[in-house]
Amino acid sequence: MALVLGIETSCDETAVGIVDNRKLLANVISSSVDQHARFGGVVPEVASRAHLEAMQQVIKQALKEAKVSIKDIDAIAVTAGPGLIGALLVGVSSASALALALDKPLYGVNHLSAHIAVDMLDSDKKLRPAIALLVSGGHSSILQVNNLAKDVKVKGATIDDAAGEAFDKVARIMGLGFPGGPVIDNEAKNGKADGIIFPRGLSQNLDMQKHRYDFSFSGLKTAVLRYLEQTPNYKKADVAASFQEAVVDVLLTKSLAACQESGIDNLVIAGGVAANSRLRQLAITRCEAAKIELSIPPANLCTDNGAMVAALGSLAINEGLAPSQLGISADSAAEISRVIF
Ligand code: KG4
Ligand code: ZN
Repeated sequence: MALVLGIETSCDETAVGIVDNRKLLANVISSSVDQHARFGGVVPEVASRAHLEAMQQVIKQALKEAKVSIKDIDAIAVTAGPGLIGALLVGVSSASALALALDKPLYGVNHLSAHIAVDMLDSDKKLRPAIALLVSGGHSSILQVNNLAKDVKVKGATIDDAAGEAFDKVARIMGLGFPGGPVIDNEAKNGKADGIIFPRGLSQNLDMQKHRYDFSFSGLKTAVLRYLEQTPNYKKADVAASFQEAVVDVLLTKSLAACQESGIDNLVIAGGVAANSRLRQLAITRCEAAKIELSIPPANLCTDNGAMVAALGSLAINEGLAPSQLGISADSAAEISRVIF
């Protein structure tokens, strides 16, 4: 049982969350997304500077929101990877400084595991083995989570683009702006999901033998591009809805198969793409039909935030994991197997 402050700076959000064991006390986010929008993607150097500028204020605001003093904090958790290296280093340095000054343990944690850990917050559900569909801007995988802090197995992953990346790229070619996920989600609300039949990657029989739980979204992206070139008067909303349906369909088909084939009746969906309204809706319908218990964190906790980092720090403490050494570095390409640095 501990009061944990979590710092997240792996991409363009400077975020601090505070949790008391599994209770969420504060979640403050400052995003530099507006500074990147005109480039159509996150500019690492700009993101790092924005983290430096925002950090102190975001920490202060989180303490205020949680109604706690910095001296009450029992441990500091921070995303140490994967992510943009310069951005990660701002978070790791800030967290190390705090841990040193307060003489409290430091937990450098894995960003991907943290996306899943946020699901524990404000819930008294017993932690049990689950299949996790982790879908973000840089990663798309199906994981068997026996114990999030100690035993996670990768069942499959994308062989090219991540699901979020596909949303971002398709939004860019349609001229919808950045980041693509929320704009396509919105545009799709006025379109027909079955208006255009786009390909479902790695879903044919032959592919399924070799890539049962893997994803591929680059063929889908090309199919959208070709459709746009060949259809001068295309309806943006129909393209958005049909593209989104192709992504969501394949994500859920493979995740449910992983549940059924591993005898696990519990699916967690996490990461930025888990904020997608169609994914959330179709997941409820399909899980109900398959009698699989579904957990998806609230949409604002699916995209990057500090609460997820604090949640994983808190889990590490409850599981008796040793804290990190002061002086840890960041690992931009950390694997999910590296939970604590
Ligand atoms: O987890 P996240 O916030 O950052 C990473 O760790 O990558 O995920 C960001 C990704 C972006 O690609 C963004 O377009 C996507 O999540 N995303 C969405 C939605 N909201 C964010 N994708 C689909 N629908 C959404 N509503
Ligand atoms: Zn993320």
